[in-house]
Amino acid sequence: MSYARIAGIGSYLPEKVLTNKDLEGMMDTSDEWIRERTGIKRRHIAADDESTSSLGLEAARRAMEMAGVTADELDLIVVGTCTPDKVIPATACIIQRQLGAKRCPAVDINAACSGFIYGLDYANRYLRTGGASKALVIGVETLSRITNWEDRTTAVLFGDGAGAAVLETSDEPGIMATHIHANGEFEDLLQTQNGVSLGFDASAAAGAFIEMNGNAVFKRAVATFDSMARETVADLDGHLEDIDWFIPHQANMRIITAAAKKLGMPMERVIATVDEHANTSAASIPLAMDLAVRDGRIKRGDTLLMAAFGAGFTWGSAMLKF
Ligand code: ACO
Repeated sequence: MSYARIAGIGSYLPEKVLTNKDLEGMMDTSDEWIRERTGIKRRHIAADDESTSSLGLEAARRAMEMAGVTADELDLIVVGTCTPDKVIPATACIIQRQLGAKRCPAVDINAACSGFIYGLDYANRYLRTGGASKALVIGVETLSRITNWEDRTTAVLFGDGAGAAVLETSDEPGIMATHIHANGEFEDLLQTQNGVSLGFDASAAAGAFIEMNGNAVFKRAVATFDSMARETVADLDGHLEDIDWFIPHQANMRIITAAAKKLGMPMERVIATVDEHANTSAASIPLAMDLAVRDGRIKRGDTLLMAAFGAGFTWGSAMLKF
């Protein structure tokens, strides 16, 4: 059985930037509070004429360029997102058409912030079992569209962005392990009240926007990062010391720092880019990885541990050699 390796990585952030100072003029908050509690300095916001598919398309093109893979070579497209362009068709199908890819399977996965890891797990299984030899996995969100800009407890946290990876089969790993999980009991802690079959009405009063119990989410996120990172590393009879870079979901700096501390992972080996783009949900891991690859921190051959946690709750991790 062959392995899957990341042949190329890419990301895209919308041009428009919303700083903490900008938010001060919109709600009762302060740059100091946001930095202190979250580490976030700014977030990128999709323009009116941008969409989840247009952000994802740009990240995909960059990843494909790095991989040297053309659209007609793709056998599978998976998009992790909880903010699709439309209910139907899947954003993956829209991106497939825009790329000019052949009629390969194209599907969205909604695992909230764990969307990219779920996509990686899915594509990895396809490649390893001969169902595909090249796959495009995208994590992308336009969370600004479901953010209540009058709710300071959530509005300061989120941003828009995209990250993408091209996977291809390889004789050597590659992806060494993936684990994904979910527990639907925690729906109330992080959700939008309505959707499609439940209350289709896009206004704050009708519950279209994100609501969250921040403290409870924080605690569970930190504990879960710790247990899943250990699970994945132990599954390979490995040790945390074998990991060159830990790339956690970029929710906020306090969660990242607390998770790293619990794992005993020095911050010098943790990729943290949340200050630059806030929480972009499914986009955050490939986005962080791409930024660190392009600035030279992550090099070919490095061992990476990715771990995500999000609404659902869902969580998942992947250990791989880049
Ligand atoms: N600006 C200023 N003050 C604020 C703001 C704000 N934006 N938001 C809340 N406050 C106030 C609160 O009203 C409260 O005031 P009070 O003491 O007078 O009642 C005070 O700040 C403290 O509020 P807490 O909610 O207790 O603040 P906490 O230290 O828990 O930080 C935070 C809040 C940042 C949301 C934290 O709970 C957190 O990081 N949670 C994780 C949630 C997360 O990142 N979710 C993302 C999606 S899930 C995921 O990606 C993992």
